[in-house]
Amino acid sequence: MRRLEGKTALITGAARGIGLAFAEAYAREGARVALADIDRDRAEAAAAGIGAAAIAVTMDVGDRASIEAGVADAEARLGGLDILVNSAALFDAAPIVEITPESCERLFRVNVHGVLFTMQAVARGMIARGRGGRIVNMASQAGRRGEPLVAVYCATKAAVISLTQSAGLDLIRHRINVNAIAPGVVDGEHWDGVDALFAKWEGRPPGEKKKLVGEAVPYGRMGTARDLVGMAIFLAGPESDYVVAQTYNVDGGNWMS
Ligand SMILES: NC(=O)c1ccc[n+]([C@@H]2O[C@H](COP(=O)([O-])OP(=O)(O)OC[C@H]3O[C@@H](n4cnc5c(N)ncnc54)[C@H](O)[C@@H]3O)[C@@H](O)[C@H]2O)c1
Repeated sequence: MRRLEGKTALITGAARGIGLAFAEAYAREGARVALADIDRDRAEAAAAGIGAAAIAVTMDVGDRASIEAGVADAEARLGGLDILVNSAALFDAAPIVEITPESCERLFRVNVHGVLFTMQAVARGMIARGRGGRIVNMASQAGRRGEPLVAVYCATKAAVISLTQSAGLDLIRHRINVNAIAPGVVDGEHWDGVDALFAKWEGRPPGEKKKLVGEAVPYGRMGTARDLVGMAIFLAGPESDYVVAQTYNVDGGNWMS
């Protein structure tokens, strides 16, 4: 029995990386999936790669009108939504004295307002439909403590953990379970960008930071998007019915070490 048979899901930031891996996994588990991303061409190519179970939706989670339009599009084409994953996010790094208002505003708009208002738009539809639902937010170990050079991103991910708690406690009366995943360091294009910023601010050769963070993980390597899929299926599926407002570390032991 496939674990998400007959379900429908909207995943933001699904054109690549973790969001795409979740979309592929949900489709394998029997769900029909809307891949929502600001990168329309890549979302369409990713949906085509999954096949008939997937559609692409153009959405900028930093823009409320775009969220409303994208959610309405997905609801209309999939016949309502059972599952939302908020994976879209931006990263930046700079010492405190170099952080620009533009960078701060951009990260909060996408990583925090984006999560809140996408949850709001999808939850309204779930409540109206009366069948409950599941919401999975992508937090981070960065949301559990501050880091030098990463103040703004860390603050946005702390906000995602907090929003998951508040929305989880509010929406469970509608049988909508809201939970989050906090990965550690996950290899992919996101971390290529992170590595480049550390190279700039710490004067490191390209690739060095990535190598060091991988070696420091107790499991012995960086994570991959595939390492997170089991938790993403669990939090979207029937076995997590009594799980409410939690953030789960899936990080090879990184946070504990
Ligand atoms: N990769 C890691 O090491 C890591 C660690 C902890 C947490 N996370 C979190 O997991 C999630 C996924 O990370 P990833 O590695 O797949 O990132 P990624 O950068 O590879 O992918 C992010 C996706 O979001 C899309 N996106 C960016 N801005 C958008 C917007 N305004 N509207 C819609 N889509 C937008 C991008 O086009 C891209 O497809 C993020 O929330 C990230 O913060 C990642």
